[in-house]
Amino acid sequence: MTEITKLTTEGNQKRRSLLGEKFLIALYRVTATSKMYQSNNAVLIDCAREFIGTVSNWVLEDGYLSVNISRGHFFMQDEKLVFQRENINIVKEMSAYFEQRLIKGFRFNRSFNEVSIEQVLEFIRLLNSSKEDEEPLVWLVTRLEDGAFSWIEFISDSDASAKAQNEASKELARKSYSYALASLKEVSQKIVSESRAGVRKIKRVVQDMVDLLSIDKALLLGMSTVRDYDDYTYTHSVNVAILSLCLGKAIGLSRLSLSNLGLCGLVHDLGKVETPKEILKKPGKLTAEEFMEMEKHPLRSVGQILKLQAERDLKAKVLLPPLEHHMKYDSSGYPRVRRRQTVSLFGRIITIADFFDALSSPRIYRPVAYSPDKVLGLMLQRSGKDFDPILLKVFINMVGAYPMGTLIELDTGDLGLVLPSTGESNKVRPRVVLLVSGNGGGYKKGERVDLAEKDAATGSYIRNIVNTFNPSEYNIQPAEFILS
Ligand SMILES: [Fe+2]
Ligand SMILES: [Fe+2]
Repeated sequence: MTEITKLTTEGNQKRRSLLGEKFLIALYRVTATSKMYQSNNAVLIDCAREFIGTVSNWVLEDGYLSVNISRGHFFMQDEKLVFQRENINIVKEMSAYFEQRLIKGFRFNRSFNEVSIEQVLEFIRLLNSSKEDEEPLVWLVTRLEDGAFSWIEFISDSDASAKAQNEASKELARKSYSYALASLKEVSQKIVSESRAGVRKIKRVVQDMVDLLSIDKALLLGMSTVRDYDDYTYTHSVNVAILSLCLGKAIGLSRLSLSNLGLCGLVHDLGKVETPKEILKKPGKLTAEEFMEMEKHPLRSVGQILKLQAERDLKAKVLLPPLEHHMKYDSSGYPRVRRRQTVSLFGRIITIADFFDALSSPRIYRPVAYSPDKVLGLMLQRSGKDFDPILLKVFINMVGAYPMGTLIELDTGDLGLVLPSTGESNKVRPRVVLLVSGNGGGYKKGERVDLAEKDAATGSYIRNIVNTFNPSEYNIQPAEFILS
């Protein structure tokens, strides 16, 4: 008689829930130990046995075992599982595990009764490695087509919806970025030609960005690695809006505040429409006069914002941060102020986003830009002087020690680009997409790897960073590799 048939109706649900919990713990153990040990290891074999035991209980009783994951909750046989407090971390871990692999559910059928330990371990290994592929679920299902895995099925319409959802947010990301650029250009051109420019479109852009921020922050962050030499001021402004939004979200700003903050980011350099092009694009150092001209742009931004066609209330909310964005935390920057004054919260956020993006971008007078991790190093040296130390800490924690889009050289000889950090990624050992030399020069996207991954046999890291560069040194547009 199986464990399940022994259950009485009373407390049946609770016992089933406990068995569900047992299953998830067994799955966690076997996936975790499989990352560390080879198939003949006694600990791993024990874990596999325990896993087979828990699944068999269900399959013998119900004929199958189905597991679904929805919004971080697990359902077995369509019943929501309740977990004991001490196991919450395992639940979180497993929910992230499935999310990374785009798995929404699977089902063990009757053939599971004939399964061998080797087959289960092979399945677990494939499950673990599927994370490296860009389309983990598609990769996994293709490999499981082999007859040896007829005992497991992935729930197909969830597969499609997961993939579709992923594609949809990438599409939204690309669309919002190009829409943002086009709208900003339109506003600037209208200003130059002295026709009335409204904010309706750029307000919509910010709404799209705020939406994307709650759906997929990593994707939005990835978008901020777009670099355009010719359209520098526009791409820079969109990137500043994105980085500010992500920082704003990290400190818990409301949706409404985020919308205003994003708008500030988009218009912070609007005053540059009045700066002569020769100065904006001058190769080499600016003269003292030219620098004075350049320093006028924050005040000019205020003037241009005032002229925009928009509700007064809204304009009042977005005036100050553009004025303050070069003022520095200790108000020693420009426009100069007589007495030390406090820079507003939005002003301090925009200052960080602005500096980080500006120094990560290649410019005419500085053809080789700093690698993003070195920019963070420079910023840390100026913490408390140029930058709000607490906000800077949050920012660095958000982008990681190696920010997304950093080009890295590995001790394996490979080049890679750092992917945006997700909630659970390792800040010092990020996930990267490897670059493969293309036939006609340039680079193609290679596999995605996790630098936190260790060699099962030696226990040491498989890949280590030996050097970092700005992708522009290799003529690489990071967003193309991160977003596509
Ligand atoms: Fe500026
Ligand atoms: Fe700027």
